[in-house]
Amino acid sequence: MKNFIIALDGPAGSGKSTIAKIISKRMNLTYLDTGAMYRMVALYVKENRIDDYSAIETHFNNIDMDIVGERFFLNGRDVSEEIRTPEVTKIVSPISAIKCVREKLVKRQREISEGKSVILDGRDIGTVVFPNADLKIFLVASSEERAKRRLEEYQKKGIAQNFSDVLADIKQRDYIDMTRKESPLKKADDAIEIDTTKLSIDEVVDNILDLINRKVGE
Ligand code: CDP
Repeated sequence: MKNFIIALDGPAGSGKSTIAKIISKRMNLTYLDTGAMYRMVALYVKENRIDDYSAIETHFNNIDMDIVGERFFLNGRDVSEEIRTPEVTKIVSPISAIKCVREKLVKRQREISEGKSVILDGRDIGTVVFPNADLKIFLVASSEERAKRRLEEYQKKGIAQNFSDVLADIKQRDYIDMTRKESPLKKADDAIEIDTTKLSIDEVVDNILDLINRKVGE
């Protein structure tokens, strides 16, 4: 079978990474969490106190990213947990809106995917990174449900947060991601939308596995 590319896009907390991990294991695909790459740039910006985001490009040579399985390394350091903190989450969307950041990461995402069957999750996979993807899925859910899921994730990690702050962050990120000039978050015309608000993880996975099998059979 030829290399198969699945683009899984959608807003924060719609379930992309949970679903992508399961699908990648079931179908033996490489999984690329593109949001983690934007989060690594955001962590670098935070740690190096770069206040002027327009200067980010001058720092690119000092940002070395490595992905090994599900672990993320920034300049050789495992930052898999740090990139998920509320502090990084707060600054990631404005940084992701910067053109040179997107160009650098999109290039890297294409390189990583070269010659492989891959499921990528993000905001612009079906529209920009792989407009010819074999299958495009757009996951959505109500903002309240997405905030509830994100709060549960924080609670499991022992990070203290409250529902209204998490909901406000999600709405703020949705707004920035959807209205930015460079590759805004939007459903590709040929993407299949799945509303996960009332669905279990298994139901979403089964739904997508069905779609994959149908595509492969075409
Ligand atoms: O997991 P969550 O949905 O909270 O976010 P994420 O997928 O880790 O992405 C974090 C942020 O990175 C998003 O809010 C976007 O601003 C940005 N992002 C992007 O611009 N393009 C992508 N392909 C992936 C993420």
